[in-house]
Amino acid sequence: MGSALAAAFVEAGYPTTIWNRTPGKADELVARGAVLVPFVADALRASSLIVVCLSDAASVEDVLGPHRDELDSRTLVNLTSGTSDEARGISKWAGDYVDGAIMAIPEVIGRPEAFLLFSGSAEAYARHRESLGRLGTTTFFGEDVGLASLYDVALLGVMWGTLNSFLHGAALLGAAGVDAAEFAPFANQWVSSVTGFVNAYADQIDRGVYPAEDASLETHLATMKYLVRESSAAEVNTEWPARIQAMTERAIRAGHAGASYASLIEVFRSRA
Ligand SMILES: NC(=O)c1ccc[n+]([C@@H]2O[C@H](COP(=O)([O-])OP(=O)(O)OC[C@H]3O[C@@H](n4cnc5c(N)ncnc54)[C@H](OP(=O)(O)O)[C@@H]3O)[C@@H](O)[C@H]2O)c1
Repeated sequence: MGSALAAAFVEAGYPTTIWNRTPGKADELVARGAVLVPFVADALRASSLIVVCLSDAASVEDVLGPHRDELDSRTLVNLTSGTSDEARGISKWAGDYVDGAIMAIPEVIGRPEAFLLFSGSAEAYARHRESLGRLGTTTFFGEDVGLASLYDVALLGVMWGTLNSFLHGAALLGAAGVDAAEFAPFANQWVSSVTGFVNAYADQIDRGVYPAEDASLETHLATMKYLVRESSAAEVNTEWPARIQAMTERAIRAGHAGASYASLIEVFRSRA
C-alpha cells in the first residue's frame, strides 16, 4: 500500500521522498522518479507532509517514535490501519497529526473510486487537502482524531458481513450443485436491493422508533429459521445464520416482535 500511495504522488508530479525498512521494494518507485533515502530522518527532513503506511500502530511507533522532535514542524498523515485509541495515542506525540483510513486496494489508489477517510488536525488537513486528494476521494470527519479509524472498522464490518453472507449462500447452493458464479449475479442484485433499506433504517435508529413499514422482526425470524434448517439439511455450516437467528430471538424477547429489522440495533448496542 505504501508503494501505491507514493506512486500516486509521483504520478501527480510531487517531489516524493521515500523510505522503507526493506529498501529493495522501492526499485520501481525510484525508476519512476521517487527519491529513496536510507534513513527515516532523511525522509522526515525532505517534506512538510509525511505520509506513513505501515503494518500497525506498533510499527509506526517503532519507526517514528525516535524522531518525535523532527515531526514538530511537519504534518504527519498516518494511513496505517488501527483502532481509534491507537490514533489518539499517536496524536499525543505526533504534533500536527491527521489520522487516515484507506477504503481501497492498492490497485485503485490515485483513482476517484479509492476513498480515504481522515480525522484530526483540521488546519493540517486543509493545508494538505489537495495533495491528499491525489490519492483518491477524501472525506474529513473533524477534530476527533479517532473517527477515521472508527469508520474504517465499521465499514470493514459491513464488508465482512456482506461477504460472509455471500459465502454462506454459495456454500448452501454449492451443496445443490449450483456454481458460485451462477449465484453471484443474484447476490449482487439482492445486495443492491438491500442497500435501499439502509437510509430508512438509519432514520429509525436515530429517532429510536422502529415501525415495521416493510416486514416485522417476527416475519424475519420465521424465514431465518428456514435458512438454518436448509443449511443443516445440506450439512453446511450453520454458525452464521444461527447467530443472526439468536440475536433476532433476543430482540423479540425484549419486546420488538412487531418492530422493523432496525430494532435489532438494541441487541447490537448491548454487551452480549
Ligand atoms: N493492502 C490493502 O489492500 C490495504 C487496504 C487498506 C488498508 N491497508 C492498510 O495499509 C497498511 C499496510 O498494508 P500493506 O498491505 O501495505 O501491508 P504490507 O505489504 O505487509 O506492508 C507493511 C509495511 O510495513 C513495514 N513495516 C512493518 N513493520 C515494520 C517495522 N517494525 N519497522 C519498519 N517497517 C515496518 C513493512 O516494511 P518491509 O517492507 O520492510 O517489510 C512494509 O513496508 C496496513 O495497516 C493495512 O491494514 C491495506
